[in-house]
Amino acid sequence: MARAVIIDCDPGTDDAIALWLALASRELDVQAVTVVGGNVPLTRTLPNALAIVALAGRAEVPVYAGAARPLLGRFTEAARVHGADGLAGVALPPGKAAAPGIAADALRTQLRAATQPLTLIGIGPATNLALALATEPALCEKIEEVVLMSGAWGEGNFTPAAEFNAFSDPEALAIVLAAAPRVTLATLDLTGQVLVTPERIARLRAMGSGNCLSAASAILEAVAPSPRFHGKPLHDPCAVAWLLWPELFTTREALVAVECGTGPGQGRTHIDRFGRCSADSMYRPVRLLETLDIETFFARLGERLAYLR
Ligand code: RIB
Ligand code: CA
Repeated sequence: MARAVIIDCDPGTDDAIALWLALASRELDVQAVTVVGGNVPLTRTLPNALAIVALAGRAEVPVYAGAARPLLGRFTEAARVHGADGLAGVALPPGKAAAPGIAADALRTQLRAATQPLTLIGIGPATNLALALATEPALCEKIEEVVLMSGAWGEGNFTPAAEFNAFSDPEALAIVLAAAPRVTLATLDLTGQVLVTPERIARLRAMGSGNCLSAASAILEAVAPSPRFHGKPLHDPCAVAWLLWPELFTTREALVAVECGTGPGQGRTHIDRFGRCSADSMYRPVRLLETLDIETFFARLGERLAYLR
C-alpha cells in the first residue's frame, strides 16, 4: 500500500529533485503539492512546481499556491543559491494551471477527507503547514508523520544561527513542532553530508536520458557550491529518501526548541541530542536523522529519476 503524502515546497533547485524523486517512487502516493514562497518568491516557486510536476508526466497531481510570506516576519529569499528563477537558470517547459484554492485550505480538506493517515513532507518554510494545523488542530489525528528538512544543531546556512527554512518562518516551525504527532527532522547536519560532486552527476547522467534526469543533472551542475559545506549539499531529497529507504539512515530521538522573533538568533533550532532537557511546550520531541548511506542514496536516486520520462 503506497504511503499517502502531501509535499509542501519552495522550488528551489533541491526541491525539484525531491519532487521528482517522490513522483518517481511507487511507494509514495503524492496526493498534492503545496507551494510556499521561500528560495524565491511565490510568483516563481509556483510556476516552478507546476513545471516540475508536468515534466514528470504527473500533471494530474494538484498543485496549490500557498503563503507568499511568513506568518510574522518579512519575506527573505535565497536567490543567491537558487538563481532568480529558482532553478539555477534551467528552463523547464511550463506546467498546467494551479489547482483552485489555497494551500492551507487544501491541506485541511485533504486531511479531513483522508481515509488513511497522511504524511506531510515539508521542504520549505513551514508557513502553509502551520496555517493548516493551527486552525484545525484535530486534523493532526489524521497525520502519520511530518518529515521536515529544517533546522540545524550546528551552524546555520542562512545565518550563523539558522538554517534557511527555519529562519524564514520560525513561528511556523514552532507551531508545526507543537501540533504534529510525529516529526522527523532532516537538519543541515544530515543534508550537509550529501554533497553533489561532478562524479556523482556523471553517474546520474549515465543512468538514463529522460527529461527529468537530464534536467536534474543540469540543475545540479548549475548550482553554485556552498562555502559553508565545501560543496553542493542536496538538502530536500533527504526528506523523501527517509520515507523510501529508512534503512539507509541512522536516527536519534531528540528535543527541539525554535528561537522565534527577529534577533540574531532568529530561526535557531536548539536541538538537545543527549537528553538534557525535558519535553514541554518549548522543547518538542523529534526523530533526528543523523547519518545516511550516501553512495547508496545517490545510486537509488539516479535509478528513480531514470524511471521518469
Ligand atoms: O536550508 C536548505 C533548505 O532551504 C532547502 O529546503 C532549500 O530548498 C531551502 O528551501
Ligand atoms: Ca526547499
